[in-house]
Amino acid sequence: MTKNRQWLLDRHPDPDEIIGAEHFKLIETDIASPHGGQLVLKTIALGTSPAQRSYISKGLSMHDKISIGEVMRGRGVGVVSASRHPDFQDGDIVVASTGWQDYSLQTPDSQNPNVLSIRKVVNPAHPLTMSLGILGSAGATAYFGLLDVGLAKAGETVVISAAAGGIGSVVGQIAKLSGCRVIGIAGGPEKCRWLCEGLNFDAAIDYKNENIGNRLDALCPRGIDVFFDNVGGEILDVVLAHISLNARIVICGFISTDYRDNKNMGPRNYTNLVKKRARMEGFFIFDYRHRFDEAEAKLGEWFSAGALINCEDVDDGLETMPLTLQSLFTGGNKGIKLCRVAPDPPN
Ligand SMILES: NC(=O)c1ccc[n+]([C@@H]2O[C@H](COP(=O)([O-])OP(=O)(O)OC[C@H]3O[C@@H](n4cnc5c(N)ncnc54)[C@H](OP(=O)(O)O)[C@@H]3O)[C@@H](O)[C@H]2O)c1
Repeated sequence: MTKNRQWLLDRHPDPDEIIGAEHFKLIETDIASPHGGQLVLKTIALGTSPAQRSYISKGLSMHDKISIGEVMRGRGVGVVSASRHPDFQDGDIVVASTGWQDYSLQTPDSQNPNVLSIRKVVNPAHPLTMSLGILGSAGATAYFGLLDVGLAKAGETVVISAAAGGIGSVVGQIAKLSGCRVIGIAGGPEKCRWLCEGLNFDAAIDYKNENIGNRLDALCPRGIDVFFDNVGGEILDVVLAHISLNARIVICGFISTDYRDNKNMGPRNYTNLVKKRARMEGFFIFDYRHRFDEAEAKLGEWFSAGALINCEDVDDGLETMPLTLQSLFTGGNKGIKLCRVAPDPPN
């Protein structure tokens, strides 16, 4: 391939608009040449995150916004195709903020502090896509969120929202490996069956077809010790009414609420935090970048031992990226949503 395909932002979606191809423009351009201290990375696969909606939507965002005409921001794994940086050789496998494009120009020493830094893949023996999933930021978010922020311990009851999604499916598996009782909340009977039969969750609640409060009454008579929340809104509210004494509520994300409606009023049942002497804490995975090796080593060890399943849901081709991202908001994904852009390089 001699050209670089890039997805550029063409229009900012309204906060309540579903993201689609109409918000982007696919162009072809020349591949950049690296200057001193730079390298060119050929994208192998791209990851996804609900946060990407906030990069482009009108309205509030915790993240830097992308302007019209800019390459859509996103994390990817790639192979170094040309290096003029002393620490990177041609052929190195690297995870970086590649953006939605075939080739990205990277300047490792002048990284934007608001994006996760460029990292060499420690163990290229594992499937490379795993460096965007359980051995990447999704795995680290699950690991530190559950164990560092949530302080989940053996014997405790852990409830997870968006449990069949990328981060949720890893959180549940880590909680099981830690000796917890695990209940997932997910959309639809198929996902709920998969959580119990495929990932060994103790129970799953289909929030689209079941009354979450009634199910939690039955499943958690002594209350919920840790709630790992990926969705916020109504589900957070119901779970708050079911927490145990000294519970920990980990605020990882709020996909059901973010940026659609600036009139979000926050949880109604937060007064239960006082009654139950409970803690609700948000965290940002960027703050754990100095400890990524620790998560990667532990998760890699579990994976190699067959104790952790790598749940990937992979689309094919850079041209599908807008729909790949869209699936996070329509519940179309099971496990970590990725897009394969190019084959793995030969060994
Ligand atoms: N704190 C951090 O540092 C950090 C880092 C990365 C990601 N995050 C957050 O972590 C969360 C999970 O991210 P992920 O990449 O693993 O995404 P994901 O869970 O794979 O995808 C999103 C899932 O959310 C569910 N969902 C979508 N709309 C919903 C709604 N209105 N109500 C309830 N559920 C809804 C869908 O599953 P169903 O079919 O079950 O509805 C969908 O599959 C996101 O909120 C993300 O923003 C936080």
